[in-house]
Amino acid sequence: MIATVQIGPHRLFLGDAYQIRAALGWQDADVLDPPFKYKAVGAGNMRKKRQATRLVIEQDMHKGFDIRIINPLLCGSVVVFCHNDQIPEVSAHLKGSFQRFVMAGWRKSNPMPVCNKHYLYDTEFYFHAWTKGHHPRGEYADKRRFVEAPVAPSKRFNHGTVKPDRVMDKILTNVAGATICDPFMGTGSTGVAAIKAGRIFTGIEHNAEHFETAVSRIREAFERQAA
Ligand SMILES: C[S@@+](CC[C@H](N)C(=O)[O-])C[C@H]1O[C@@H](n2cnc3c(N)ncnc32)[C@H](O)[C@@H]1O
Repeated sequence: MIATVQIGPHRLFLGDAYQIRAALGWQDADVLDPPFKYKAVGAGNMRKKRQATRLVIEQDMHKGFDIRIINPLLCGSVVVFCHNDQIPEVSAHLKGSFQRFVMAGWRKSNPMPVCNKHYLYDTEFYFHAWTKGHHPRGEYADKRRFVEAPVAPSKRFNHGTVKPDRVMDKILTNVAGATICDPFMGTGSTGVAAIKAGRIFTGIEHNAEHFETAVSRIREAFERQAA
């Protein structure tokens, strides 16, 4: 079942991203923070202390996504976050689909205090890819590839991967176009930044609890902007 909430010009869909995104047609930019794909095992007793990881696993957000949802026939540019393990697949898809792309990222000022047999998870990468006319925007200082911000506490919205406002504001400074779509909207962080940046936002989320959080955050952002 699909439910829709309209907030001014912004549309929020409760339902499946793969079904709804295709039906929406053209959006100037897709900004996605999709479910990551990684080996969510190990950490033993430390797991109990890693609330964000616990939520990610409980909410099935470690099994990846179908990359074909990124479709250059439906958007002029895309920003897509990905886990280290997804970099080869995502970059291959973008190279074959868009004219140019860059790897940028969010440096976490307070990374998880464990790293086991890997590097510290202190940087989350995203790609920004575009076709002609949809290239990155911004002044010299806005064009830095990395932004630093602390990880938001997962208990704030009972969601393990909420993106900080500073990161999303930076991305919205760089992304071109009036219409922005986030098919994996979660708690609505892209929508809040899009509204602050004066864009028209469309978001999709299939988890009813996160959808409700997104609706209230986006409604607040819209009312603040309109005041
Ligand atoms: C990584 S989270 C996005 C978090 C978001 N950036 C934020 O700041 O809150 C990915 C979201 O996609 C949702 N999701 C996963 N598969 C989906 C699907 N097929 N259709 C719609 N939403 C989906 C999950 O419920 C989750 O909230």
